[in-house]
Amino acid sequence: MKVTSLFYISGFCSFLALGNTCAPSEYKTADGECCPMCSIGSMVLYDCTGDFSTVCKSCIPGTFMSELSSLHKCFPCKHCNESQGLYILNNCTTIRDTICDVLDGYHCTEYSNLQCLRAVKHSVCAPGQETKTLGTKTSDTECGNCTFGFSSSGLNCKKTDACAPAEYEINGECCPMCAPGNHVHWHCTEDTSTTCVPCSASTYIDEPSGLDKCFPCSVCDDQQGLRVKRNCTRSTDTVCEPLEGFYCIEQNKGSCRFAVKHSECDPGQYIRQAGTAFTDTDCGNCTEGTYSNGSFTTCQPHSKCETEGLQEIKPGSMSSDTECGHSTSVKDPLW
Ligand SMILES: *[C@@H]1O[C@H](CO)[C@@H](O)[C@H](O)[C@H]1NC(C)=O
Ligand SMILES: *[C@@H]1O[C@H](CO)[C@@H](O)[C@H](O)[C@H]1NC(C)=O
Ligand SMILES: *[C@@H]1O[C@H](CO)[C@@H](O)[C@H](O)[C@H]1NC(C)=O
Ligand SMILES: *[C@@H]1O[C@H](CO)[C@@H](O)[C@H](O)[C@H]1NC(C)=O
Ligand SMILES: *[C@@H]1O[C@H](CO)[C@@H](O)[C@H](O)[C@H]1NC(C)=O
Ligand SMILES: *[C@@H]1O[C@H](CO)[C@@H](O)[C@H](O)[C@H]1NC(C)=O
Repeated sequence: MKVTSLFYISGFCSFLALGNTCAPSEYKTADGECCPMCSIGSMVLYDCTGDFSTVCKSCIPGTFMSELSSLHKCFPCKHCNESQGLYILNNCTTIRDTICDVLDGYHCTEYSNLQCLRAVKHSVCAPGQETKTLGTKTSDTECGNCTFGFSSSGLNCKKTDACAPAEYEINGECCPMCAPGNHVHWHCTEDTSTTCVPCSASTYIDEPSGLDKCFPCSVCDDQQGLRVKRNCTRSTDTVCEPLEGFYCIEQNKGSCRFAVKHSECDPGQYIRQAGTAFTDTDCGNCTEGTYSNGSFTTCQPHSKCETEGLQEIKPGSMSSDTECGHSTSVKDPLW
């Protein structure tokens, strides 16, 4: 719309044949005459003719001319429309258009020549969101979701108020918990309390809760070296213990989860400490002159054949006793 007259003329110059141009502050009339342009704040009333120079007229209020010009009309001043988020920063004068600025609480969404044409209100963060960055004249408010366990009315996320110790939270309400052995059937409402029902067979809940299902009872699997110590009830899980001859290597809440067989002692060793439900067998080595087949609780001294009037047939080892007998074929050379 707004033509910058000076550029227009200079652009024209390079286009025209030599000797046919006007000076930079002149314009060419329809008759081909070069007339002086009107100064800023005014418009051409009459073109120059012969000895008479251009007749100019000041722009009327509400119009302006910000360049030297050859136009017969000033430009209308623009409005700063409040319903488009704008207000007048500087009023229009005959030499300069109105300057609009963005109202507080708005940001510009449409520009022309670095001037804002249209602005819209800043977004308001929804409940459950927080304001991450406040809006400016050029950018909208940025919202971020509150993380779990936090809530907001739109400004700052705050930790959600926890329910009382015997209550649980559901849909923003605090409901009384069900007693152990029971699960929730209906959550509480504004005028009814929680409805609880007992756990069905082979299920349990061992603490007050807001759970709507009971847990399945654990099974004591003999493949894992386990047997039942205490059967499951509605409010306690099954308690497992190691089978006879097994010891527990993994425990949870007083119940064994996995057990393995006690080790056996090797021949030449004795059982220093028998295995229990929680400890493996502890084996000790026999010392010189004693023996054990691995099942003894102490190492026995080798028998002395001579004291029984017998002869040694096979010497003892750490895993076996000396063998004694009546020697008939072998004569001791010293005897
Ligand atoms: C201001 O903007 C509104 C909505 O866009 C429009 O209806 C109204 O005519 C405008 N007022 C002026 C003075 O331009
Ligand atoms: C613009 O002009 C109006 C009326 O003449 C006046 O009320 C207002 O204060 C002026 N605004 C500025 C920013 O000068
Ligand atoms: C915020 O939450 C809404 C709805 O829960 C989801 O659609 C949106 O993608 C989330 N935004 C971010 C940045 O995580
Ligand atoms: C567990 O229950 C079963 C069958 O219901 C019963 O045979 C068993 O003796 C019970 N065991 C214990 C340790 O109470
Ligand atoms: C028993 O003897 C074996 C090998 O002879 C040895 O590795 C082991 O440490 C001994 N055990 C003890 C408890 O002395
Ligand atoms: C060890 O000897 C005892 C008694 O002599 C016997 O009952 C047991 O079976 C033997 N154990 C082994 C592992 O040979």
